[in-house]
Amino acid sequence: MDYTNSLDAEAHLDPAIQPGETVVALDADLRAFFLTGATGFIGAYLLRELLDTTNARAYTLVRADTPEQALDRVRENLQSYRLWDDSLEARIVPVVGDLKNARFGLTERAFAEVSEAVDAVYHCGSKLSYIAPYEFLSAANVGGTHEALRMATTGHTKPLHYVSSLGILLDYKEPVGGAEEDDLDEDKCPAVGYFQTKYVAERLVRMARERGVPVTIHRIGLIVGDSRTGISNEDDFVARMIVGSIQAGFAPDVRANMDMTPVDFITKAMVYLSRQKSSTGKVFHLLNPNPINWSGVFDLTETVGYSAEKLPFGEWVEKMDVCADTKTNPLCPLLPFFHINFARRMMGVSGDDYGALRTDSTQAALASSGITCAPIDERFMGVYLSHFVQHGKLTATMEFN
Ligand SMILES: NC(=O)c1ccc[n+]([C@@H]2O[C@H](COP(=O)([O-])OP(=O)(O)OC[C@H]3O[C@@H](n4cnc5c(N)ncnc54)[C@H](OP(=O)(O)O)[C@@H]3O)[C@@H](O)[C@H]2O)c1
Repeated sequence: MDYTNSLDAEAHLDPAIQPGETVVALDADLRAFFLTGATGFIGAYLLRELLDTTNARAYTLVRADTPEQALDRVRENLQSYRLWDDSLEARIVPVVGDLKNARFGLTERAFAEVSEAVDAVYHCGSKLSYIAPYEFLSAANVGGTHEALRMATTGHTKPLHYVSSLGILLDYKEPVGGAEEDDLDEDKCPAVGYFQTKYVAERLVRMARERGVPVTIHRIGLIVGDSRTGISNEDDFVARMIVGSIQAGFAPDVRANMDMTPVDFITKAMVYLSRQKSSTGKVFHLLNPNPINWSGVFDLTETVGYSAEKLPFGEWVEKMDVCADTKTNPLCPLLPFFHINFARRMMGVSGDDYGALRTDSTQAALASSGITCAPIDERFMGVYLSHFVQHGKLTATMEFN
């Protein structure tokens, strides 16, 4: 993006996006909900959790040529994460569309019909890339959020739950603040196109909140697989870091705290919080309250049979640049990212604690839910790496036989 413009100045919310007279409460019985991102990792878990905990139908926005193809994509995605059950199919209404387009590419009438049919909007879809520029991502990430807010306010007004990213807070100059209720501050947003789009999108959601639209913001950080089964998105940052480092035989020796949060905790917490009246207008940090560091992560991989030589961060980057097999190592596409300052911050190399991001309000809101986050320990690492063994990304060791 043009850095003479501020990120805040990028956020324009159509004046027509306003709450109406009838507003659905967060804890109301849902006839149906609208979900974006159901063909992604978090969206698959979110869809399953919403279907399991409500009787509602799911209108899912999917890029496809036909509704049949859209339904196939949702089914295949849930199957790939072992979340599918044939009984779910009757409750899923595929909506063919694209986040990049006004009204998701639906006709005015179709958009209004879906808006009338649903009692909540869960906006999880987004284009993820740490290396693509703002301009490439903004139509889906900023424009898509704008249209999700339009849906929340078309016909009756319904709550919108926005999946945001903790990365938008990470380029802080001083390790202060970082609580859920702190104001957004564009100086804390890294100069990485993806995070910039997530920042501007969250700014739009906040503008809608100021107008009285019932919104809830769920910020998530570094995601890992299911703490019960190890099922993972192999394209995710942590998965690429761990598998890529083990494959190359070198790991970063970084001691600052960071979060690593299992997908099952994130989506259970998100759905629970989204159904509490008291969550209206709130921001939540869905972070693992038990921090870990990269050095500790590779101590754990070693205990389950996968060792890698630990090197200071700079040396590790140099080694990876030279030694990682560009054809097979999943970390290779991300190597340019490690050369920018923000990557050092994100990896915890700067020494400032990731723990500067607070979770107090979120923990308080979850206190009576019974939902807890699994620690990243030896048990977790064994289950997690077994997924990559089963999928041929790592060779089985004695520990897995
Ligand atoms: N993964 C993380 O570590 C992480 C961390 C913080 C925040 N988040 C946020 O969590 C949310 C979900 O992430 P994820 O990890 O589940 O991502 P993912 O697996 O890459 O899924 C992204 C989803 O968004 C959809 N999407 C992308 N562009 C679209 C478009 N133009 N029109 C319609 N749908 C489109 C994708 O559909 P297709 O299948 O058609 O591409 C897919 O369903 C995102 O909002 C992301 O910003 C993720």
